[in-house]
Order: sequence, then C-alpha cells, then structure tokens
Amino acid sequence: MNPHDPASQPAPPTPSTQAQPTRSVPAEAQPQVRVSHLTMAYGDRVIQHDLDFDIRRGSRFIIMGDSGCGKSTLLKHIIGLKRPAQGQVWFEGQDVWALSDDQRSGLCRQFGVLYQSGALWSSMTLAQNIALPISQYTGLSERETNELVSLKLALVGLDGFGDYYPSELSGGMRKRAGLARAMALDPKVLFLDEPSAGLDPLSSRLLDELILELNESLGVTFVIVTHELASIFAIGTDAIFLDSDTRTMLENGPPRWMAEHARSDKVRRFLSRSDSSSDAPAANAAAPMASPTPESSQAKA
Ligand SMILES: Nc1ncnc2c1ncn2[C@@H]1O[C@H](COP(=O)(O)OP(=O)(O)OP(=O)(O)O)[C@@H](O)[C@H]1O
Ligand SMILES: [Mg+2]
Repeated sequence: MNPHDPASQPAPPTPSTQAQPTRSVPAEAQPQVRVSHLTMAYGDRVIQHDLDFDIRRGSRFIIMGDSGCGKSTLLKHIIGLKRPAQGQVWFEGQDVWALSDDQRSGLCRQFGVLYQSGALWSSMTLAQNIALPISQYTGLSERETNELVSLKLALVGLDGFGDYYPSELSGGMRKRAGLARAMALDPKVLFLDEPSAGLDPLSSRLLDELILELNESLGVTFVIVTHELASIFAIGTDAIFLDSDTRTMLENGPPRWMAEHARSDKVRRFLSRSDSSSDAPAANAAAPMASPTPESSQAKA
C-alpha cells in the first residue's frame, strides 16, 4: 500500500475563496498542496492526466520522470502560471484556479521559485537581484531592504557577496544566490526546477545540504524537480514519478520506499540505476518556465 496515497488523506475542503479553510478540516490536518484529478495540456495535446497527490507542510517533495514528461509544466500549474485542462490545485484549502486573477496573484506570492535556468539579472549585483522582488512587492525602506538582502545572502552562505555580479561567481554560488532571491519574500513553499543542473557533484551536495538546513531551520516546504539520485535520496521525504509513455503518475511515496516497493519496473529501474547520467533526462534540457531574460523569482500569476 502506498503510504502517501491521497485516497487515505482527509478529503479536500469544498472550494472557497475565503482566506480561512473550512471549519471541518483544521488547517494543520490539511495537506499544504493538494493536486486533484489534474490534467495538463497545451492546446489539444495532453501532457499528463489524472494526477492526484498531496504535498505535506514542511516536506521536501521530489518530482521526477523522463525528460519532457511535464515536470516543469506541473510546477507552472501549482504556482498559478498555467490553468489546468481539468482538475484542481489546492493551496492551504483554497482552490487556486477558482480564485480571481488578483486573489490568485496574492496567494501565489507565498511561493518562491528557482527556475530551471536559475536566471539572475547579469547586469545587476547579487544584492540588486535580491532587492528587486522586495522593492516590487513590499513598502520597505531602502535601509530595511538592504538589511533583508544581507540576511538572505547570509542564509545561503553568501555573506559579503552582495556587490558581486553573477558572472563573478561559481555555478554553485549562482544557484545559492537564486535561492536567496526566491526566498526574498519569505515564501511558505519553495519550488526548485532542476537546481543541481550544471553543478559538479560537490557543489550539488552542498546545495542539497543547504536545502536540508533551510527546510529544517525555517520549516519551509520544498518542491524540487530533479533526476539526480544522490539528491533524491539525500533530501526527498516524498516523491512522485511522472511517466511520458502513459502520460500519468506511476508512483507516489517516499523515494527509499519507492526504490524497493514501486509497482512499476520503470520507477524501480530509475531509482536503482548505477550511473545517474546514463538514462537520466538531460540536465539542461528545454526550460519552458524560464523567459529569455531573467524574471523575478517570486511567482507571479
Ligand atoms: N509553452 C508550451 N507550449 C507547447 N508545448 C509545450 C510548452 N512548454 C512545454 N511544452 C511541451 O510539454 C511537454 C512537457 O514539457 P516540460 O518542459 O514540462 O517537461 P519536463 O519534464 O520539465 O522536461 P525536462 O526534463 O526536459 O525539463 C514537452 O513535450 C514540451 O515540448
Ligand atoms: Mg523541465
């Protein structure tokens, strides 16, 4: 039996545009995110259908699957950038796509996103990159903004690097700076799309350690798209596997449990392959979530 089968979880509350979830389901008992009967499509082309899973508050949730199966597209649906063809995405008891555009935009400001390209503005220093969403969405003074920027840089181990430009940093440092920017507005959930892409194994491991630290110290929920086995097992508390052949989810559960008990051979093979680069998706493949120029990493609807 799948330990995180959504069918065994409390039923989602009825659709509501109120800030408070329904009285019958206490907030702490609800999954933070619930994806329910979700079908995603571009025009007539169905990318994935009938996705059902929950993301628990404070968990580190891994999305894995073949290249092009729809992982980045799924993130877009959850963060309020792409409307489902069918089904719902719930965030803390609210049906994200039943809200007005303004309400959804406000709700999605509680999300931070590190896009697949990890894009930072190259013409801006790290401090300016991180200050951008803060000045865009808060009324903080320049002094308060600078303090917050220093705090975020310190959180990701880049204390004192505020005046550096992205090109002056290593790949791993750029990823951490992107993480600092995604955290600028104290998001409840951080979405990372292939954060270790392009990193050497050591930088990738350091990034995993940072994710663990931030998750444990701040309690922020992480949703991470990755195919790196080392990362999946080091940081994943829960995972799903999206399949490009059947165009639906093959498995849902803790990665270690899945590696042994997944019903699908494909999932077990994926999780037990010896060379993580041999049958894994291309790390730097098409990045549909990233616009040609760097965008604010705070989700915008
Ligand atoms: N804006 C778009 N319009 C039409 N089709 C798209 C669009 N974005 C993505 N697709 C298609 O949807 C499918 C899923 O793409 P997506 O980028 O979500 O996959 P992915 O699993 O993130 O892939 P990768 O592992 O390469 O990052 C692909 O076939 C892609 O070509
Ligand atoms: Mg992708």
